[in-house]
Amino acid sequence: MEWLLWAEHVLVSLLLAALVRLAVTEGLQGVLRAVLVGLRYVPGIGELINWIVRTMAAQFAPQLTGGSSSKKDKKPPRVALPKKGLSYDVILEEMKRLQKEKDADPHAGRMFAYVYTLKEDDASKVQKEAVDMFMERTGLGDDHDRFVQEVYQSFLHTNALNPLLFPALRRFEIETVSMVASFLHGDDQVVGSLTSGGTESILMAVKAYRDRARKLYPQITQPEMVAPITIHPAFEKAAAYFCVKMVHVPVGPDFRADVTAMEQAITGNTILLCASAPQYAHGIVDPIPEVSAMALRRGLPLHVDACFGGFMLPWIEKLGYPVPTFDFRNPGVTSMSADIHKYGYGVKGASVVLYQSTDYWRYQMFSCSTWPGGIFGSCSMAGSRPGGNIAAAWAVLKAMGEDGYMKTAREVMETTQFMISNVKNIPGLCILGEPHMTAFAIGSRGINILALADEMESKGWRMERTQNPNGLHCSIMPSHTNVRDKFVEDLTAAAEYVKIHNTSSEEGASMAYGLASKIPDKGLVDDFLKEIYMEFYSKC
Ligand SMILES: Cc1ncc(COP(=O)(O)O)c(C=O)c1O
Repeated sequence: MEWLLWAEHVLVSLLLAALVRLAVTEGLQGVLRAVLVGLRYVPGIGELINWIVRTMAAQFAPQLTGGSSSKKDKKPPRVALPKKGLSYDVILEEMKRLQKEKDADPHAGRMFAYVYTLKEDDASKVQKEAVDMFMERTGLGDDHDRFVQEVYQSFLHTNALNPLLFPALRRFEIETVSMVASFLHGDDQVVGSLTSGGTESILMAVKAYRDRARKLYPQITQPEMVAPITIHPAFEKAAAYFCVKMVHVPVGPDFRADVTAMEQAITGNTILLCASAPQYAHGIVDPIPEVSAMALRRGLPLHVDACFGGFMLPWIEKLGYPVPTFDFRNPGVTSMSADIHKYGYGVKGASVVLYQSTDYWRYQMFSCSTWPGGIFGSCSMAGSRPGGNIAAAWAVLKAMGEDGYMKTAREVMETTQFMISNVKNIPGLCILGEPHMTAFAIGSRGINILALADEMESKGWRMERTQNPNGLHCSIMPSHTNVRDKFVEDLTAAAEYVKIHNTSSEEGASMAYGLASKIPDKGLVDDFLKEIYMEFYSKC
């Protein structure tokens, strides 16, 4: 025990020496600063300081936003998706009222950052016309698209980087997150952010879990996350960006996550488990209840990637189709991502990332208080955030309402079922696994699937190739309803042609897939892909 006493003496002497040195070099203020910083690491005191910081922030923020700091108003009530979609006129009126009431005017010349607008002249008209020309067609009809366009244009020059300049955008964001949380069965603790898309939502979740692990488990220096191989590459991207090792595990013959394999892949470095609802390739939902139970048992957080299905599975389930419980009803699900710009029918650039509570969301935030350009805070990857996307996201959810999403889901699901049952009847083809929603992958029973893709493309279809095993992915959208018979007719003819002619020649994208499958060194394929991308974007 005596050596412990000695060690303590040495430590205290070292500490005192460091403080004396600080006093000499930086003065008394430097010592004070160091003591205060040091105090944060003393057990109990750190938590107390955090509590004070949070309480002060909760009281200070409303002074900036003009909200209420009274305790009973602390949590705004959850805004649910309207049962019945609101009319376009009602929504537009409300948006314009909010915009006029509080938002800064990007053209008034009173702001000194955030919006870089032309004067309202011919050039700005060209900008608006460009938006007209390139506005996305969602497949829900001209009225819907025109409505989204009008909303988008009204907020064309707004920027959500500063949460105080455009309060309407802030409100749209809070309410959009709230509406999505409500139909994904989040309780009133669920919080989150709007991002530019599925990838950004996933990047943010992985970053949050990495930073959480840094704080709570500092002994983990090489964090890992475990996910089935079918998880979207956005996770791999996040792993690369944030220095988290991705541990992929194989899926079962049904293309669903193998929960036992996932559990076996957990090590002392694991900070996160991931699963999909559904995975993109085959439209199949992982066994989320089982993964959730395992996550709870192992004390690990679980992100469910519902980028693809978040805006489709809830309605499919309500229509009576069998869907595994995939959302916050599973207590082990600590975060989810759901894309508004997919089956939410918003315009490109809108997704939601949700967390079970601020205990996780907190780690998503970024701040830089020392920049000469000002005190800087940001909650997602992007700096400037286009207000048009945020406004359009909110407006679309209000306009669709639960009845709108249900109606569209019914139609799209019927089209999907029609296509699936017809594909199953085409000799030489099959459906890979048992898809849960409005997407499937066509597999081969003896036919060269890449040659089939080429043959379909010669008929004007744009095919999506998948691999391991080769397949053709189809996400079904409202616009497919009118062409479903033609699709089956062309696919039947194409399959027959490939079979009779024993076609195996592969062109274009199929050739690339064929080649890639023959190269055992996937690192080489990755390098080649990066070079190809530089070629794509350096020449027209
Ligand atoms: C399951 C899944 N997750 C994530 C993403 C990434 O979304 P985004 O392309 O919007 O970045 C996709 C895209 O298709 C997806 O299907």
